[in-house]
Amino acid sequence: MRVLKFIVFFIVFQVSAQQGGMWIPSLLEGMNEDEMQNLGSNLTAKDIYDVNNSSLKDAIGHFNGGCTSEVISPKGLLLTNHHCGFSQIQSHSSLENDYLKDGFWAMSLKDEIPNEGLFVEFIVRIEDVTEAMLKGVTDDMSARERQSQVDKNRNEVEKNVQKEDWQGLKIRPFYKGNQYFLFVTERFDDVRLVGAPPTSIGKFGSDTDNWVWPRHTGDFSIFRIYADKNNKPAKYSKDNVPYKPKHFLPISLDGIEEGDFTMVFGFPGRTNEYLPAVAVEQITQKVNPSKIAIREAALKVIDANMKADDQIRIQYASKQARIANAWKKWIGENQGIEKSDAIAIKREFEAEFTKALKAQGKENQFGNILPEFERLYKEFETVNIKRNSFLEVFFRTNELMQMTFRAAQLEMSAQNGEDAFNKTRESTIKRLKSIHKNYNVKVDRGVFKSVMPLYDSNPDYNIYDKTAFTNLDNALKLLDGDPKTVIEKLNADAAYRYAKPLILEFYTKHEPEFQRLNTQINALQTQYMKALMDVLPEERYFPDANSTLRVTYGKVNGYSPRDAIYYSPVTYLEGVMEKYVPDDYEFDVPEKLRDLYDAKDYGKYADKKGKLPVCFLGTNHTTGGNSGSPAIDGEGNLIGLNFDRVWEGTMSDIYYDPEICRNIMVDLRYVLFIIDKYAGAKHLIDEMKLVHPKK
Ligand code: ARG
Ligand code: ASP
Repeated sequence: MRVLKFIVFFIVFQVSAQQGGMWIPSLLEGMNEDEMQNLGSNLTAKDIYDVNNSSLKDAIGHFNGGCTSEVISPKGLLLTNHHCGFSQIQSHSSLENDYLKDGFWAMSLKDEIPNEGLFVEFIVRIEDVTEAMLKGVTDDMSARERQSQVDKNRNEVEKNVQKEDWQGLKIRPFYKGNQYFLFVTERFDDVRLVGAPPTSIGKFGSDTDNWVWPRHTGDFSIFRIYADKNNKPAKYSKDNVPYKPKHFLPISLDGIEEGDFTMVFGFPGRTNEYLPAVAVEQITQKVNPSKIAIREAALKVIDANMKADDQIRIQYASKQARIANAWKKWIGENQGIEKSDAIAIKREFEAEFTKALKAQGKENQFGNILPEFERLYKEFETVNIKRNSFLEVFFRTNELMQMTFRAAQLEMSAQNGEDAFNKTRESTIKRLKSIHKNYNVKVDRGVFKSVMPLYDSNPDYNIYDKTAFTNLDNALKLLDGDPKTVIEKLNADAAYRYAKPLILEFYTKHEPEFQRLNTQINALQTQYMKALMDVLPEERYFPDANSTLRVTYGKVNGYSPRDAIYYSPVTYLEGVMEKYVPDDYEFDVPEKLRDLYDAKDYGKYADKKGKLPVCFLGTNHTTGGNSGSPAIDGEGNLIGLNFDRVWEGTMSDIYYDPEICRNIMVDLRYVLFIIDKYAGAKHLIDEMKLVHPKK
């Protein structure tokens, strides 16, 4: 009996220890399929990905190149996060029609709102093209020689691909360029807004709760894909009709319990799981802190202004969310790396690698990699910090500096002739217009004051009184005329004169130095990946996320963030009410929702005990880009909508620790409850297929 218990424990431990990883959907047969089935799934690899028959992958769409979305009805209804549809919702909002504040629900097809520029892309087929892409590539090639050979091969591969003319094509490196996969894609450009809950539901808890468990956010929004009369992708037209998908996800009303299998299917953006310890040290101890400080300085100003003024709240909502999101993530990442002792663990692993190298007599081949990393990262440190800080100031936080940066690019483009100049002028004008769409000089000036001293020791605070850039009409006038005139006008502008030397320093010094070292580091990382797989083949390697379609799986599971604290994996509407602060900008609860709670009017969406679940946790290995990804049960039904990770586990992008890394999903029953009972959009529920797999 005791022996048996030990064995059972051992097996369970093995399975959970093995979790983590983002797998390529076309390669699940074998180990992944077995593991998923051990975790309680009844799905086969072919149920998930199949070229000849419709499969789960046909319901999964890359949403606007950043998030994930899934089709949930035979009429192209599409589910994603509220924060993924945020800028669309914002763009249709005004003080009179405040869809951010009040929510939006199209009660019929004709009320659904088109979104210029928004697209959704599906994967038709995945092929391993490693051999063709690496033809003629040898170990002794320089990084540049290798790249040019790969580019040549890419042209060949692209020429020979069989695909329909409306389909797209992408080739992406995996395992740091040791493998290549090709994706045939289908992209839809007519995607309309169908519904969004008010921010007080869709972003409940806002920044205070962002990246945090326990969580009570109904982070969803609904769109619809439209196609032409032949069900093919088409630009927006009023004649387009709802898309008939190859597959859509049925929705389970039976919910989840701790231990249940979950699979998350989506487009994770970027991870870095195979960095050497020295890189992790630099990221967490040098780069993150400087980026955190700059964003903190900007947020202080933006937050205060948003609280004081409703117009600014709407204008800056999207920008603020973007700045705050990464800021808070980096803080969590640093804490998680420390708590999990990731740097020491990586050092140990590297010692093991070195030992194995010796034992296998491969020191000549791979022995220089780790010492080279140490040397390169040391050289890299200063410029790495400087470049990151520049980007934070000139791209992410201060808008005036961003405008001067664009203007400087325009001036530089004049060297390439008048055509190049005119083309760049067009994109500069577009950029200026888009910045000014939601621009407030007072806010931006405050940001400048707060942020600039962190980059430049001697900022000129008076430029805001003199520059033309802070007013769109005046800014556009600067860009009017032949190249020589424009350049003269630019160089007479106070903000431009202040920023130009900093921008030139970036272009002539920091950027080339950064690229020089970064290219060497990347080439070394390619070698390191190859060496790891060669020298320690019994370890498990999944390819780092690269915005391609991946499967990750695990189970519903709580965790212990600190000594003596255990977080259970499901939250309920009770918890929303516990957090409720009347009129608070983060924790207000709409009256209608409070009424439904008081009446316990949950309809068929309550669990067995009559409670309404809101969010739940899983051990799925996810990252940015997985937002909006479906959480799927062992039968292929939708049970949750992924939108976040727990703070203690955000370091999973660099180091996945199964003890504390958890993804956060909205329970689909909460989504349906809000659509049905809160919004009264029952016609949408009627389109969906609701199932009871547990009965
Ligand atoms: N942290 C989540 C992700 O990285 C959600 C972000 C949106 N929510 C927010 N409060 N900014 O995208
Ligand atoms: N919230 C993230 C996203 O937008 C998901 C994550 O980083 O866990 O993709």
